[in-house]
Amino acid sequence: MNDSIPQLESYDEVALDKAFAALAAEVKAEASKLNSPDAQEQFRLDWLGRKQGRLKLISDAWLKTAPAEARKPLGIRFNQLKQQIEDALATDAGITETNTTSLDITLPGFRPRIGVEHPLIRTTNEIVAVFKAMGYSVATGPEVETDYYNFESLNFPPNHPARDTQDTLVVANQEQKPLRQRLLMRTHTSPVQIRTMEQQKPPLRIVIPGNVYRNEAEDATHLARFQQVEGLCVDTHITFSDLKGTLDHAMKALFGSSVKTRFFPSFFPFTEPSADMQISCIFCDGKGCRKCKHSGWIELLGCGMVDPAVFGFIGYDPKKFSGFAFGMGVERIAMMKYGVGDVGQFYSNDMRFLEQFA
Ligand code: PHE
Repeated sequence: MNDSIPQLESYDEVALDKAFAALAAEVKAEASKLNSPDAQEQFRLDWLGRKQGRLKLISDAWLKTAPAEARKPLGIRFNQLKQQIEDALATDAGITETNTTSLDITLPGFRPRIGVEHPLIRTTNEIVAVFKAMGYSVATGPEVETDYYNFESLNFPPNHPARDTQDTLVVANQEQKPLRQRLLMRTHTSPVQIRTMEQQKPPLRIVIPGNVYRNEAEDATHLARFQQVEGLCVDTHITFSDLKGTLDHAMKALFGSSVKTRFFPSFFPFTEPSADMQISCIFCDGKGCRKCKHSGWIELLGCGMVDPAVFGFIGYDPKKFSGFAFGMGVERIAMMKYGVGDVGQFYSNDMRFLEQFA
């Protein structure tokens, strides 16, 4: 292109029209040759470049010597020319044409990757399904809980040593509130037992899946956030036999019909009597191996008969109703079912790990 600054014969309108017509013709000729993004960018720089663009150089040169009355007609014509250049840049007809011809529509497309259930969600769903088949429904509740629902109403009095078994993450700046209203991260799904019993009369059969939080030093088998499935059954004439029969059936449904269960005395403030339930080791069929520390048994959940003191908090008549409750850790069950050695893998978002469940 011609980089020189054209001479202006005079500042009258005839001379201005002639000079700008010549520039417009130049723009038009160049614009017709813009057939690539590079050419377009060069054209833009040549004409509109802030420092060395022709429009700028010409306007500087012409305006400097212009008499005052010529400034306005000059300005109008510069703006028209600038508009013509911008229009040429906006249309980019040639470029679209080039791009269309380079698109090969016969190439196969990209297939979206199909997602699958996360192993923990799958495990939760399996556990829930086993209880749904026995007539249980699903209840949920908040993960940020009050001291009342997480502890007091479950028969953990203030300062009771049983609170020490669940090292609690508390919400900051709650000290001004009465203890029972203070917020914390729920340490178990049991508060949803109370919340549900407050809303519904017996008979009641619910399972409660959800996240729980404890102040744990994390290692291969412990996380500060993990998941539980809780169960609660309240009705007339519910006995410890119902608890044992229900859980024995559930374990056989989850781990296979050859699995055995056994119950050991334990303690939870909200159940009396309380028990820890063990299943025969699914890795060695109860013969003894490293996984079960050569005992043939694996401890899987806590359970017990609902303590009448808990019924007292929600106004169920303990002479009329009885019930049982249980709580199990989802990660632990998933680790056993899928042979996972490090609980952290479930939360690593590592596709190589997750793809194994596809
Ligand atoms: N909430 C108890 C825990 O997290 C487990 C449990 C639930 C025990 C229900 C008995 C009955 O340790």
